[in-house]
Amino acid sequence: MERVVFGSLLHLSSLINSLKPYKVAFLTNNILKELWMGEILKYKEAPVIAIPDGERYKSIESAMYIWKILREMEFTRKSLLIGVGGGVITDLAGFVSSIYMRGTYLGLVPTTLLAQIDAAIGGKTGVNFYGKNMLGTFYPANFVLIAPETLKTLPQEELLNGLGEIAKYAILDSTVYRFLQDIDDPMEALRRDIIEACVNFKLKIVREDMREEGKRRVLNLGHTVAHALEKLSNYRIKHGFAVSVGLLVAALVGEMLYGFDAGKVEAMLHRFRLPTGYPASPQEVLRELRGDKKFWYGKIVFVVPVEIGNVRVEIVGEEVIKRALEKVFK
Ligand code: NAD
Ligand code: GLY
Repeated sequence: MERVVFGSLLHLSSLINSLKPYKVAFLTNNILKELWMGEILKYKEAPVIAIPDGERYKSIESAMYIWKILREMEFTRKSLLIGVGGGVITDLAGFVSSIYMRGTYLGLVPTTLLAQIDAAIGGKTGVNFYGKNMLGTFYPANFVLIAPETLKTLPQEELLNGLGEIAKYAILDSTVYRFLQDIDDPMEALRRDIIEACVNFKLKIVREDMREEGKRRVLNLGHTVAHALEKLSNYRIKHGFAVSVGLLVAALVGEMLYGFDAGKVEAMLHRFRLPTGYPASPQEVLRELRGDKKFWYGKIVFVVPVEIGNVRVEIVGEEVIKRALEKVFK
């Protein structure tokens, strides 16, 4: 499993040197190249491969472009590719690195809140191919450097997007939940101890079940409905915002089945200025859910909160889901 270091960009040279790589290259996008690569190159001078910004560049075409450059550079399995960016770049860097010569050294420097607490952790890599993340591998990085200073330049909307996933960890883990109790301004959630608690929770899970055969499925809390909303919006809604709405639906399902206090989740989402609704009808959302691969014979595998810090992954009937959807979507 990956070595995760909470630090600053100052730690980059020692992490690189510890691998004694034959060659090093950075992979980033044109925005991060402008904003952060000047600073990063002070710690390690190396070629920078930059692709355009955007989810649509998390593609096999980008991967081929990068593989070609690595080949021309005479990269080997003992060379190190370092992805610097949000989840698009960390997923792509992981994918490229895992396939090239059956795997090079890989380092990740996630620069969005979402990538620091989620995408860069746990070894899932991927590119979009006739659907999101349809090609991918499990390939944990040799190191992940979490340098919170890189969040200074992140637009507020992207910070809130990451907060949607932090809210998920708060339901899964009572330590994160307690940390968030005394926070009113969403930006306070960017505290290092909160980021560390989220990452440590995810690491604990993925170290037991990297390939999502069991326990890792709890990380999908809120995601079934989130994916339905993302599809309904044609991927215009941000993932973290869709997760926020999905968390409320999951909380309501938990309330119906186990007496979970969904009001706690709703209050937290309000405090974080995260969405608790979306302009779609319950029928439209249900129709999308029926297309989900986890849905069969009127039942769906759902992550259901029982109490803070305790969820169950179980089959839930359509009737219960429908009642929860009717409370959230009008
Ligand atoms: P992103 O990578 O598109 O980044 C969001 C925006 O922020 C981009 O415009 C980017 O250029 C910009 N940006 C990044 N860092 C910045 C900085 N420090 N300052 C200013 N701007 C900056 O989006 P994301 O939300 O980080 O990641 C979403 C991707 O992550 C999706 O492709 C998703 O599938 C993937 N993901 C993967 C996993 C996993 O386990 N592998 C988990 C969750 C999400
Ligand atoms: N983002 C969910 C997972 O990594 O499993």
